[in-house]
Amino acid sequence: MAKVHTRFVCQSCGRAAAKALGRCPQCGEWNTYVEELVADEPTRRAASSNGAGAAAPKPLTQIAGGAENERMPLSIGEFARVLGGGIVPGSLVLIGGDPGIGKSTLLLQTAMEMAAQGRVLYVSGEESPAQIKMRAERLQRSAGVADGNSAADWLPPDQETKQLSDSLLLVTETNLDAILHHVEQIKPRLLIIDSIQTVYDPQIDSSAGSVTQLRECSDRFRQLAKSSGLAVFLIGHVTKEGVIAGPRLLEHMVDTVLYLEGDRFQSFRLLRAVKNRFGATAEVGVFEMVGRGMQEVPNPSEAFLAERVVNAAGSAIAVTMEGTRPLLVEVQGLTSPSAFGNPRRSGNGVDTNRLLLITAVLTRRLALPLAEQDVFVNVVGGLRIGEPAADLALAAAIASSVWDRPLRADAVLIGEVGLSGELRTVPHTPARLKEAAALGFKSAVMPRRLRKSEELPSGIEVREARSLREALELATLKAQA
Ligand code: TYD
Ligand code: MG
Repeated sequence: MAKVHTRFVCQSCGRAAAKALGRCPQCGEWNTYVEELVADEPTRRAASSNGAGAAAPKPLTQIAGGAENERMPLSIGEFARVLGGGIVPGSLVLIGGDPGIGKSTLLLQTAMEMAAQGRVLYVSGEESPAQIKMRAERLQRSAGVADGNSAADWLPPDQETKQLSDSLLLVTETNLDAILHHVEQIKPRLLIIDSIQTVYDPQIDSSAGSVTQLRECSDRFRQLAKSSGLAVFLIGHVTKEGVIAGPRLLEHMVDTVLYLEGDRFQSFRLLRAVKNRFGATAEVGVFEMVGRGMQEVPNPSEAFLAERVVNAAGSAIAVTMEGTRPLLVEVQGLTSPSAFGNPRRSGNGVDTNRLLLITAVLTRRLALPLAEQDVFVNVVGGLRIGEPAADLALAAAIASSVWDRPLRADAVLIGEVGLSGELRTVPHTPARLKEAAALGFKSAVMPRRLRKSEELPSGIEVREARSLREALELATLKAQA
């Protein structure tokens, strides 16, 4: 039995200390220190640290194969794109997200797809093989069908049975040594761990999901991936409060970090890359959770605008960039007299600071009477807008509600709003306009361009404005002004 000692570890950021601290000096969280038992100097560390068997440095030119040409293709296009174009052998990918958001579903679909190319081992610490089988049967009918067409519910029987492959192996296991043993026996090309919080290393005397276990187990999977060329997907839960023993502290250990986001009560799900050693970050894949699993949404702008009521006051269309892809979304604003002295500003899907800034600009620069008004803003479809390019749409939605006057239904609004009420240019204007034109929008109200040389797509009328005031004039319907 290895000698053990106790230490205290912050469950939020992973900082270790000799005694419990009230407030963590690293991350500033309160009461996050938990006592853990750790084995003194694990034996495998000692064995590997003498350098025997370590690889010698090699010239770059003599190193075999770039990862690009050996990616395993993945037919779930939205997922493949976020990964940078398929699964890289030997990579360790972390997929985080709130419980119930669809991580297990997406990865089981992936496992079913990938089983056609080689063995896949799906290790679950949360569900029994029978439960997973039930889900697989439910998903089976949807595999490969992405048009959301109800006729797709029916598939010929031979096609149905083809999907479940003998190459997909399931096991319910949480013991790290047992999992590694299975991997050695089965030699899969893809290993899925659902979830990393349930796995424990029996040599470490702390509970599954603790910081020490998460680190150690992830590190073992990393070594496994790098030494064998096996691709490993780790599922990690994040809690609403943020990071308690969450995947955050594993981010630096893995090659790729993806987050699956969305409102549990709405069907859209965004798969977002926040770190990717093999592709672009900020790439986003859009899915919809339907009765038959996670379905790709090939044209998300259309989906986000599907329920829009044209010519309603307080509705504006923004064009936001998600990674390299422009997305059209509806921003709704509603103002109503506040009951108390302190008016509320409440935003769903927008940054609160941005909302406060815009209401302040509307109050001071356009003399809108917002001081006694509650302001509510909502981004339709559960999307979160992070960029200032949606400022104009946000401001216009609020102003339109105050005036009780609809905005032009066929116009998109693009632009950042500055503190003096000026409209500022935003990047990727041509891509944004192209997407708007493709969806049938006739005009775009946007900042005056500094670089006139930039080629803009045809088929959409560009109305340039210098200030928020000018832009709002261009965006509202003249007849009712
Ligand atoms: P799940 O993948 O278990 O979430 P996670 O692993 O992230 O915790 O998904 C859970 C939810 O998804 C559950 O509430 C049911 C729903 N769901 C569907 O709507 N359609 C489906 O085909 C499946 C399998 C699940
Ligand atoms: Mg799950």
